[in-house]
Amino acid sequence: MHILVTGGAGFIGTHTLIELYKSGHTAVVVDNLSNSNPVALHRVEELINQSQVTGHRSQVTIPFYHTDIRDREGLEQVFEKHRFDACIHFAGLKAVGESVEKPWEYYDNNIGGTLTLVDVMRKHGCKNIIFSSSATVYGDPVEIPITENCPKGQCTNPYGWTKSMLEQVLMDIQKSDPEWRVVLLRYFNPVGAHPSGRIGENPNGIPNNLMPYITQVAVGKRKELGVFGNDYDTPDGTGVRDYIHVCDLANAHVCALQAITRKCGIGIYNIGTGHGYSVLDMVKAFINVNGVDVPYSIKPRRAGDIATCYCNPTKAKVELGWQSKYGIEDMVRDSWNWQKTNPNGYPLQAE
Ligand code: NAD
Ligand code: UFG
Repeated sequence: MHILVTGGAGFIGTHTLIELYKSGHTAVVVDNLSNSNPVALHRVEELINQSQVTGHRSQVTIPFYHTDIRDREGLEQVFEKHRFDACIHFAGLKAVGESVEKPWEYYDNNIGGTLTLVDVMRKHGCKNIIFSSSATVYGDPVEIPITENCPKGQCTNPYGWTKSMLEQVLMDIQKSDPEWRVVLLRYFNPVGAHPSGRIGENPNGIPNNLMPYITQVAVGKRKELGVFGNDYDTPDGTGVRDYIHVCDLANAHVCALQAITRKCGIGIYNIGTGHGYSVLDMVKAFINVNGVDVPYSIKPRRAGDIATCYCNPTKAKVELGWQSKYGIEDMVRDSWNWQKTNPNGYPLQAE
């Protein structure tokens, strides 16, 4: 299939491009580079071209458009040049704290951008979309492990609301026009990196998320990790999450593409491993597997955090034929491999 990948230069997008080409698909990337670097796409091409398993005989170049998804004319031009079978829609802003400071920018970018994208898609007869949603739509979940039947909850920040609202928007559009096929993938906590160490997570400024913070402490860029609370109702008192290797997550999109061609309507899937690990489990695994120190101290709870969040991923296994393969050791090893070989992330100049 020929796939439009919005936000394809980002963390999850780059890893997904590799899985797409591995499975014989081709892609076009639209990204405004607001949180990414074109070097990442060059490295994706390099990895695809080195791979023996892609089945692509000539050198692969992935068409890239430096375009904002809110730019209707820019998107129109992309759709006039290419005929897409489906869109995997990653483009969006994702920093929880920033979304509290800049709600208008989040609603404009994430909701405005998706509305424009979907309008241009339908105009050009492309009505298959896989949307990056999040476990955040469950709020403080009423059941653990979380199944897709768990009711959606109150989000604690504008970022979360954009995901929750966009799920509703896409479901309503599908209801009004059954030609649409919509897959909502609710990601749990993506970590890790491609095992080559050539692509990985490249946060701007101080990382919000646990794993990039750990790796930056380990590489000496930050003094110590603050563990946000050790008085939660969890086995060791620290927050429990369902960390998933980004390559497993990327592969879920390929499985969702196969399913989208078989099935009409709407599919909603949790994409996690089904295992919950605490903050201290992650820190200890990182230290043991990688043999590096990660100094930490206990800090107060972070506003908006919940104690425990992990899923039951059975529905994705049964209906998409997807399940995670990587464990916690792989996640901490690959995260470290990426950070230690790219201590400052991607270079600013093209390689
Ligand atoms: P990322 O920031 O690395 O990638 C997003 C990409 O979208 C970036 O390359 C950015 O430049 C691009 N982008 C943003 N706004 C755009 C716009 N208006 N037009 C064109 N491009 C735009 O983030 P990621 O971690 O790869 O996340 C991908 C998607 O998955 C996002 O929608 C995110 O909200 C969602 N998600 C991420 C996580 C996570 O923890 N990483 C968890 C759940 C859901
Ligand atoms: N944590 C720390 N110290 C840090 C960072 C995080 O102790 O410096 C703790 C948090 O308190 C939490 C756990 O590590 O207990 C995970 O925190 P993250 O910020 O890495 O992830 P969250 O579960 O808070 O949220 C992430 C994304 C959201 C997404 C959600 C579910 O940031 O966008 O996963 O997919 F919605």
